[in-house]
Amino acid sequence: MTKYIVQGGRPLFGEVEISGAKNAAVAIIPAALMVDGVCRIENLPQISDVTLCLKILEQLGANIRTINRHTVEIDCRSIHSTRTLPSPADKIRASYYLVGALLGRFGRAEVAMPGGCNFGGVRPIDQHVKGFSAMGSKVTVEGGFIVASTSTGRLKGATVYLDVVSVGATMNIMMAAAMADGNTIIENAAKEPHIVDLANFLNSMGANIRGAGTDTIKIRGVERLSGGTYAIIPDQIEAGTYMAAVAATGGQVLVKNIIPKHMDCITAKLVEMGVEVEENEDTLLVRRTEPLRKANVKTLPYPGFPTDMQPQITTVLALAQGTSLVTEGVWSSRYRYVDELRRMGANIQVDEKTAVVEGVERLTGANIQAYDLRAGAAMVIAALAAQGRSEISNVQYIERGYENIIQKLRQLGADIWTIEDSGESVRLTNIG
Ligand code: EPU
Repeated sequence: MTKYIVQGGRPLFGEVEISGAKNAAVAIIPAALMVDGVCRIENLPQISDVTLCLKILEQLGANIRTINRHTVEIDCRSIHSTRTLPSPADKIRASYYLVGALLGRFGRAEVAMPGGCNFGGVRPIDQHVKGFSAMGSKVTVEGGFIVASTSTGRLKGATVYLDVVSVGATMNIMMAAAMADGNTIIENAAKEPHIVDLANFLNSMGANIRGAGTDTIKIRGVERLSGGTYAIIPDQIEAGTYMAAVAATGGQVLVKNIIPKHMDCITAKLVEMGVEVEENEDTLLVRRTEPLRKANVKTLPYPGFPTDMQPQITTVLALAQGTSLVTEGVWSSRYRYVDELRRMGANIQVDEKTAVVEGVERLTGANIQAYDLRAGAAMVIAALAAQGRSEISNVQYIERGYENIIQKLRQLGADIWTIEDSGESVRLTNIG
């Protein structure tokens, strides 16, 4: 089992190139299933969640050609099954997008249930089911599979009002509706950048989707999607993670290949904390020379502060002067990692959705573990900022969502490396 070893306390300097967005990629790959032709997808992040998504498509009969590290061609004309194998579909959360894609194109889908999650609480899919049912599908759970089918082989457009703003439900319903008979309206839709990215991908393949990025999305179903080329947007959360790392360690880093507008919610909070951020066309120059100031953070759906940056920002606030309040407004709980920060000397109390963060002057290196992807990123930030040596275990979580994190950090001057430790066995659970 791989571990990360970090000798902390060094400021970061240099440039970092941001990869394609994980949460766009894990929706766009399943959406490629709907395309009757060859889709060339560029700027794919090289992370294990993407590898698993591609593997599932291959199991269903897709032909996948790797063009280079970040580009694949997917040909789904040869799909021979609408039922996934149990594995690896049960390993990633995003496999639920296969339901929308298969249902949209073939009128039926049998997809292994994405299992439990590891940042606390349940991760329901009732809003996805509500959308599919409104479009005329029967949805049941049988033998560990989500089974969805239509009597006519084609979904019917419908108006769906989401009871909660859900990224997954918005994307899944949008996919299914792209090839439904007639018009679909999604009200109270999520507005994250990856929702716009999925809509742009589908439109570039011939779909008719308007309003993505607002809370009302209108979809006119089409008979067929045909092939084309599409480049995935840069990863907002990966960029935010490097920004948070500079905030915690000090230094100056040019974060390259980003869309600054997507970063506004994160940039504004870091500036409030005393970090300098200079915006250019597709880069942000992040500098921290002064002590960090306290700030209150509440996570919300986009354009609010992203829940996927909550562990990272809490880690930075653990080193800020004064008392900060962090409120988790998306998930019922996402604070398991706080125990690990405490082992490093952080002073944080958690009461359900709120963390009270009393800033300390420094953290000290310790043996810590990644509980999930973003919690893992927070552990890396903490270890980089801490005095002394840290050992981070369960790093397979981190590698599901961060391309070449070790290499990218080493280029910024971080003293971080990996070791292989065969003594432990760790079970992968669903995240992301
Ligand atoms: N919810 C429901 N019913 C549903 C769906 C969601 O009640 O049918 C609730 C959830 O319990 C949660 C809230 O709605 O309280 C938002 O959940 P959402 O559906 O938006 O989350 P998701 O689609 O399952 C995606 C990302 C997560 C990210 C959330 C919120 C992917 C693969 N995952 O999950 O990303 O935290 O949106 O932005 O896109 C990560 O990348 O580390 C990660 C966990």
